[in-house]
Amino acid sequence: MERKTITDTLQRPLRDLRISVTDRCNFRCTYCMPKEIFGRDYEFLGRDQLLSFEEIERLSRIFVAHGVEKIRLTGGEPLLRRDIEKLVSMLANIEGLQDIAMTTNGSLLIPKAKALKEAGLKRITVSLDSLDDATFMSLNDVDFPASKVLEAIDASADAGLTPVKVDMVVKRGVNDQDIVSMAGHFRNTGHILRFIEFMDVGSTNGWRMDEMVSAAEIVERINAVWPIEPVDPNYYGEVAERYRYIDGAGEIGIIASVTVPFCSACTRSRLTADGQLFTCLFGVRGHDMRSLLRSGASDEEIGAFLSRVWGQRTDRYSEIRSEGTIPLEKVEMSRIGG
Ligand code: GTP
Ligand code: 5AD
Ligand code: SF4
Ligand code: SF4
Repeated sequence: MERKTITDTLQRPLRDLRISVTDRCNFRCTYCMPKEIFGRDYEFLGRDQLLSFEEIERLSRIFVAHGVEKIRLTGGEPLLRRDIEKLVSMLANIEGLQDIAMTTNGSLLIPKAKALKEAGLKRITVSLDSLDDATFMSLNDVDFPASKVLEAIDASADAGLTPVKVDMVVKRGVNDQDIVSMAGHFRNTGHILRFIEFMDVGSTNGWRMDEMVSAAEIVERINAVWPIEPVDPNYYGEVAERYRYIDGAGEIGIIASVTVPFCSACTRSRLTADGQLFTCLFGVRGHDMRSLLRSGASDEEIGAFLSRVWGQRTDRYSEIRSEGTIPLEKVEMSRIGG
C-alpha cells in the first residue's frame, strides 16, 4: 500500500498509534483502577472480544500506510497478554514503522526483557510512583514492592531497551514528598525519569484539581536541589517537556497535560484491546474497527474508515478542560492505555 499522510480538522497529522493489548492489570493503582470499581465483579473483555495478534498486525499495517511511524503497546498491563513478544516481532516486520515501544508496570518484565528486545522492541517505559514501599504499595494497592520494579528497570537497560523511561504520576499528599528522592535516585543512571501531572482520565479515579501538582512546582522543587535547564524537544509534538541537570547528571521530563496542554500538536490515535479506535485519551466513544475487520472489509475499506474518522477529528480535551464543557462519561485509562 502506498504511504500517505492524513490530517484532522486542526491540521494535525496521524503519526502515532497506541495499542492496548488487554484491559486487565495485576495492579490496582488507585488513580487508574480503583478496587471499588475494578473488583471481583468487574467484567473484563473475554477472549473472543480481544483482537488477535493477526488482527492487530493487519490494522497496524493499515495505520502505517496512513502515516503512523511509532507504535506503543500498552494495557492495562501489556505483559499479561500471553506471548506478547510474538506480536512485537510481527509488528517489527512492518515496513515504514520506525519505532515500537511499550508502557508497563514492570512487574512481569524481568523474564521477558531480552525476548522483547530480540523480537524488535526498541524502548520501554516503566511506571514507578515512589521508592518508598509503604507509599508505592498504597498506590498500586496490591502490595507490590518498589525494589522489584527497580530491578525490572535495570533488567530492561541490560537488555538494551534504552534509554529506559520511568513514569511517576504525582498526587499531592500521596507521593509528592518523593519527587526529590526519585530525582536523586535516577540521576546518573541513564534512565529518564518523567513526572506526570495527575489527570482526570476516566470517570472513576475521583480526580480533584487540588491533588494535581503542577509542572512548575515540580521543576521548582527539583531545581532548588539540583539546578536544571530546559532542553529542546526530540521531535514535533513530544509529550514530555525535557530538562537537564546543569551538573551533567542526565535529563528528566515533565508531562504537564493539565497545566500546559499539548493538544495542538497531538498526533496520537489509540486502539482498545477490542478494536475501538479513539482519537483522544479523553474520548467518550470509540469507532468500531473490530466489526469492520470481522465483517470481511478490505484493507482499502478499513483505510478509508480510518481516513474518515481522523479527517473529522476535532479533539482537544486538555485545552477545553478549563472551559467546563467536559464530557462526564469518559473512557477508562485501563481500556485506552494511557
Ligand atoms: P516517547 O516520547 O515516545 O517516549 O513517548 P511518550 O512521551 O508519549 O510517553 P508515554 O507514551 O509513556 O506517555 C507518558 C504519559 O503521558 C502517558 O502515560 C499519559 O499519562 C500521558 N500522555 C501520553 N499521551 C497523552 C496524550 O495524548 N494526552 C494526554 N493528556 N496525556 C498523554
Ligand atoms: N493521571 C496521570 N497519569 C496516569 N496514568 C494512569 N492514570 C493516570 C492519571 N489519572 C499513567 C500511569 C502510567 C501510564 C500508563 O499512565 O501511571 O505511567
Ligand atoms: Fe495497571 Fe498501569 Fe493502571 Fe496501574 S496505572 S492499574 S499498573 S494499567
Ligand atoms: Fe491529544 Fe486528547 Fe491528549 Fe489533547 S487531550 S493531547 S487531543 S489525547
